[in-house]
Amino acid sequence: MKGLILSGGKGTRLQPLTYTLAKQLVPVANKPVLFRVIETIREAGVTEIGIIIAPHTGEEIKRAVSQVDFGANITFILQEEPNGLAHAVRTAYEKGFLLDGERFAMFLGDNVIEGGISSLISDFANHPEWDAQIVLKEVPNASSYGVAVLRPDGSIERLIEKPPVPPTNLALVGIYMFDGRVKDAIYAIEPSKRGEYEITDAIQWLVDHGHRVFPHIHQGWFIDTGKPYDMLEANACVLEELTPSIDPTARITGSDIDKRVTVQAGAVITNSVIRGPAIIGEGAIIENSYVGPFTSIYHRTTVRNCEIQRCIILEDSTLSDLPTRLQDSLIGRKVTLTRNTQRPHALKMNLGDHSVVHME
Ligand code: DAU
Repeated sequence: MKGLILSGGKGTRLQPLTYTLAKQLVPVANKPVLFRVIETIREAGVTEIGIIIAPHTGEEIKRAVSQVDFGANITFILQEEPNGLAHAVRTAYEKGFLLDGERFAMFLGDNVIEGGISSLISDFANHPEWDAQIVLKEVPNASSYGVAVLRPDGSIERLIEKPPVPPTNLALVGIYMFDGRVKDAIYAIEPSKRGEYEITDAIQWLVDHGHRVFPHIHQGWFIDTGKPYDMLEANACVLEELTPSIDPTARITGSDIDKRVTVQAGAVITNSVIRGPAIIGEGAIIENSYVGPFTSIYHRTTVRNCEIQRCIILEDSTLSDLPTRLQDSLIGRKVTLTRNTQRPHALKMNLGDHSVVHME
């Protein structure tokens, strides 16, 4: 079976980070979300993987993915316009990655899911009579997702994309399995109100035309990392799952580091307290600081005389002498965040578009 990862789109909900970085490359627990998706598919035994990319972020994604050996044959497929998930599948057919009649698994490149997809893939492989399999999860805010209505016997009655008033709390998770019949569906549907060819509508078309779509209810957590809060939540969940380790090249002196902390190669930690689950990236410097639970500090970032907790700090940033604890924050690359020691004692900021700052 082939794997198709959707890593195009716009990423507007994660601005300002996504002005300069593809949203699928934002790391959770110091690994880009897209890399976690590729690994999940690879672990399920799929070695033929296509990645849908967009014109403005495609090259960056290609470069990042090509630097890692995932043990899979990866093909990049350019989708010229972000016209929707079903349009992305159509592009994969038109560019020759998907062949007529073959079964494939599709995974949204910004979704993080607990427990992998091996059992889903083998369930689908063991049921040749299923034309498609979807994954559902009960969520509190179903209006942000595709939503399913099931019949009393558990079969699918209706699927609706982002209904303002959701009829159920069963959200579509970004993992789908299809056989060749989905091709008819994606060519038959019309664009939705938001102007996209929705995969949700294509699946509804399959149901309406008597094809068998099996709904699997997922029991673990699943996070669509579309917004900053979701990113922090995904980071916390993945950190909880991580098996901690301290790289032998890390230098730790005068510090209290608890058992659930991962320290990557070349990190230097001095006179600090680190409470896990947390991860300190390659070449990061932590000095006279407290790093609290659910924090990921990415490569080559410096934290000096600060307290931070439940944050994601991307690479090459410097945080120093902060007067209060930094919490629940997502900080981009090459950011400087420091105390102003000179008069006037005013706040001085240089923020990008769509930045959000909450004062104490
Ligand atoms: O996360 C689950 C949800 O994902 C489902 O519940 C919804 O039914 C489904 O439509 C989808 O909704 P989103 O609004 O979250 O989709 P988003 O636009 O964020 O796109 C998901 C991924 O697909 C993301 O990695 C970008 C990529 N993409 C998106 C579009 C619109 C493409 O590759 N091409 C596209 O044209």
